[in-house]
Amino acid sequence: MYVLALVTQKGGSGKSTLAVGIAVAAMANGERVAIVDADPQGTISKWRERRGHPYPRIVRVADPAGIEGALVNLEAEGIWLTVIDTAATNNDLAMRAIAGADLCLIPARPSLADIEAAIPTLIAVRRLNRRFAFVLNQTPPRGCRVSEAATSLNSLGVLALPCIGQRNDHQDALGAGLGVTEFSQEGRASEEVCELWRWILKKLVEGASAHEPHERNEKAPY
Ligand SMILES: Nc1ncnc2c1ncn2[C@@H]1O[C@H](COP(=O)(O)OP(=O)(O)OP(=O)(O)O)[C@@H](O)[C@H]1O
Ligand SMILES: [Mg+2]
Repeated sequence: MYVLALVTQKGGSGKSTLAVGIAVAAMANGERVAIVDADPQGTISKWRERRGHPYPRIVRVADPAGIEGALVNLEAEGIWLTVIDTAATNNDLAMRAIAGADLCLIPARPSLADIEAAIPTLIAVRRLNRRFAFVLNQTPPRGCRVSEAATSLNSLGVLALPCIGQRNDHQDALGAGLGVTEFSQEGRASEEVCELWRWILKKLVEGASAHEPHERNEKAPY
């Protein structure tokens, strides 16, 4: 099972939105996907209540010690990918999520405040020796802020591609209990999330190649 954690202590940068978007995009070929909701705010759990499908499977974890057990159970269930959504704080729960992840994705809006706020998370990720990438989220359609932010993030580590634009589809999908790829399949937001998911999968596969191979599951009941 691959484990992807969305982490940054900066609030509102898009952890939950991207967790949902990526998890649903990852189900496109019938893969079994889960989201661990490790944020007491419960954004993902509330999203699930608006959703009429059993997948992605949602598991809520409130106790830091519960992360490892949740991951073991999901792997035993045959889940192929687990996405962990974390709270905007470098608490013990977030640290356990980072420690359990094959790849940590650190979303940041293209502002100095977001990038600065991501640094303690980056330090934690490096201390735990985890693979990571930044992703620029909520990027405006034009202007030089995106390229400036991309330069800063590239200097700190890897920047996932593409940048995810500021688009209403993300907010509307979340409100409708859908992933953005389900909400507006042909939309630009959907295309970007699919492309981002392909980028992430490549990194997960590269990271796993040194270890035992991850088997793809049979078609999930989604
Ligand atoms: N690419 C995007 N385009 C438009 N709106 C977005 C995008 N990404 C996130 N948002 C919106 O920004 C707000 C914050 O996003 P989200 O809740 O995903 O952030 P978060 O990092 O999970 O926040 P928190 O730290 O509070 O958990 C939400 O209203 C969400 O719908
Ligand atoms: Mg959130």
